[in-house]
Amino acid sequence: MEFTRFGRTGLTVSRVCLGTGTFGKQTDEVEAFRIFDKATEAGVNFIDTADLYPPGGALGSGSAEIITGRWLSNKRGHFILGTKGGGPMGVASWDKGNSRKHLLDAIEGSLRRLNTDYVDLYSLHLDDPETPLEETVEAMDAIVRSGKARYIGVSNFLAYRLARALGLQDARKLTRFVCAQPRYNLLFREVERELFRFAQEETIAVTPYNPLAGGLLTGKYKHSVSPEKGRFSNELGGVGKKYSGWYWDERKFETVEKIQEIADQRKVPITTLCTAWLLSNRAVTSVIVGPSRPDHLADSLAAAEFKLDGALEAQLDDISVDYRKGDLESEQPQSSASVMPTSVKP
Ligand SMILES: NC(=O)c1ccc[n+]([C@@H]2O[C@H](COP(=O)([O-])OP(=O)(O)OC[C@H]3O[C@@H](n4cnc5c(N)ncnc54)[C@H](OP(=O)(O)O)[C@@H]3O)[C@@H](O)[C@H]2O)c1
Repeated sequence: MEFTRFGRTGLTVSRVCLGTGTFGKQTDEVEAFRIFDKATEAGVNFIDTADLYPPGGALGSGSAEIITGRWLSNKRGHFILGTKGGGPMGVASWDKGNSRKHLLDAIEGSLRRLNTDYVDLYSLHLDDPETPLEETVEAMDAIVRSGKARYIGVSNFLAYRLARALGLQDARKLTRFVCAQPRYNLLFREVERELFRFAQEETIAVTPYNPLAGGLLTGKYKHSVSPEKGRFSNELGGVGKKYSGWYWDERKFETVEKIQEIADQRKVPITTLCTAWLLSNRAVTSVIVGPSRPDHLADSLAAAEFKLDGALEAQLDDISVDYRKGDLESEQPQSSASVMPTSVKP
């Protein structure tokens, strides 16, 4: 396993981070423990979870954090543990978002489920245009000052919003965000333009999620066959619809076929190739992998050792260059001022 510096912090982390997004729904606790064991035997020391995982699970169940906490129970100190808050955890209007009230409740809930006094990294899961950024950065600073998190970060933030947040943190002498967690893979490259240059200038750690486009980049799906199980199926409720909207189109399937051909020529599993391609980008600190079964892990872990040569990088870049363009802003939460009447439901 390779290790690297985590942004501008004094911390080093493994270049593969273990994601827990399937734990508690697609992956039961026994299988999850096997995944933890296998990943950590290979040197992974960095774990990513969130209060709302697993997506498609019961609202507020926090099952992935509970499973993670149980596995970590006698070895907490050996791992860099990151969790995220701000997602919906209950039915009240304040049970979601980046308000001071919700974030202070959310970190308490996460620590309880994870059975620990602190997390190493606490990140905002999503931007929240309803809450003033001033309120959010003050709340995140309070979380660090109380000892409940050692570092803070963001996920799914546009660069200009992260820049505004860092500006506020500097001006008010508050704890800075040190990490960004964007969606990034060979079928979704918009963050290369939108975020990476800024992240490098500011030495922000970048830990992409969704390296295999939810499994499409394993080559296991056919465009004409609707899956009954997994990320693109109805078993995960609205998640299947969201992922299909992102990736289920003929052009992307054609791109996957071309990547598969290259992988075959190079005699490397497509999963390894796609993950290694992410790691080859200088802006990327660690890639968050999301196995739903222990046997998924080997090919992803092998990416940390597989180095792309210039010719291979150029080939993959050429095939996927169109996915650098796009409309990232359409994925962002909209302010109610622009899309909804001003009345708020209790
Ligand atoms: N910040 C955020 O908003 C956000 C969002 C999503 C995820 N995440 C984090 O990032 C992690 C990874 O993201 P992701 O789950 O979207 O990653 P991904 O690698 O794009 O997709 C993971 C899915 O791919 C399939 N898969 C993985 N390895 C495979 C293999 N070797 N062979 C066949 N299928 C394989 C599995 O699908 P099936 O189970 O369907 O077979 C698995 O659930 C998550 O666990 C979570 O920690 C963060």
